[in-house]
Amino acid sequence: MEEVVQKKRMLSGIKPSGDLTLGSYLGAIKNWAERADEYDCYYFMADLHAITVRQNPADLRRRTLEQLAQYIACGLDPEKNTLFIQSHVHQHAELGWALQCYSMFGELSRMTQFKDKSAKNADNINGGLFSYPSLMAADILLYQPDLVPVGEDQKQHVELCHTIARRFNGVYGDVFKIPEPFVPKVGARIMSLTNPLAKMSKSENEDTGRVLVMDPPEVIMKQFKRAITDSDTTNCVRYDKENKPGVANLMTIYSACTGKTYDQIEQEFDGLGYGAFKPKVGEAVVETLRPIREETLRIMKDKAYLESVYRDGAQKASYVAEKTLRKVYKKLGFVAK
Ligand code: TYM
Repeated sequence: MEEVVQKKRMLSGIKPSGDLTLGSYLGAIKNWAERADEYDCYYFMADLHAITVRQNPADLRRRTLEQLAQYIACGLDPEKNTLFIQSHVHQHAELGWALQCYSMFGELSRMTQFKDKSAKNADNINGGLFSYPSLMAADILLYQPDLVPVGEDQKQHVELCHTIARRFNGVYGDVFKIPEPFVPKVGARIMSLTNPLAKMSKSENEDTGRVLVMDPPEVIMKQFKRAITDSDTTNCVRYDKENKPGVANLMTIYSACTGKTYDQIEQEFDGLGYGAFKPKVGEAVVETLRPIREETLRIMKDKAYLESVYRDGAQKASYVAEKTLRKVYKKLGFVAK
């Protein structure tokens, strides 16, 4: 008899709070797509998370659908991966609430992202922004994944998810599987092109320092031509994150897009300087994003197809999520429906 080998499970999500950037692509989706055949994959648009910051409803709706089209265009085949919209699977909000009761005030207060976002949204430091990591823990634990691929900025949240899961398991037995974060070696933290000390971010109104997945080639080339390199006068393409953060960031982007190592990049541009290097990075990014942009535009035209994908995805996701939620409710002592 043929042996059926159960695939390991992988899960991740992105907030549709802004248009997808090169950072989210290199730090997250690219790594999902590369492992799609190996794992049983669950990927979602984290719309519940997006509303922790005020959103324009029409933009949120458009971005959520565009993000789904981008997932597919990046190589996540809906036949092989479960792609869904977070708010369509009510179990996320429900487990999110339960896990808030197992997340400590001190732990949530220490989250770097909470501190950063509170500083940037001083007039809207709402409860959701504060308890966001409890909902993120629910997103993960509902599916009992083995691996959670994220960029560096989300690692702290995945670590808090471990703490919450261990706390819960400590009281109720082995309810949750403890997942591993997977942070890529190259591309886990892509920085702004105009401020290499700040993360390239989709939710900020900072047009000059970021590249969007949907930017046309001429815009991408312009962004790279005016990218900050560094203030030394060597004009030398060398990887030195501490002293040459701008050049290091461009080398990371080039490496992630071409697969070349930092040594190979240094050799390629030996004696050529930043003037030759910057447009080459731009070209590599244009060629990486071109097929994704074109495919996204094509898929976006087929609304019926997108609808069938997210409906199917929500159904498959709900089935798995409900099993976990029921187990949790039973452990907590809730009366069965
Ligand atoms: P979000 O939407 O801010 O970012 C989505 C993913 O992209 C990565 N990323 C980056 N990587 C490298 N360089 C950058 N400049 C860059 N910007 C973003 C992020 O690390 C992330 O992996 N809370 C999450 C979404 C989420 C989630 C989850 C993720 C909700 N539930 C459960 C994993 C598991 C977020 O806000 O990511």
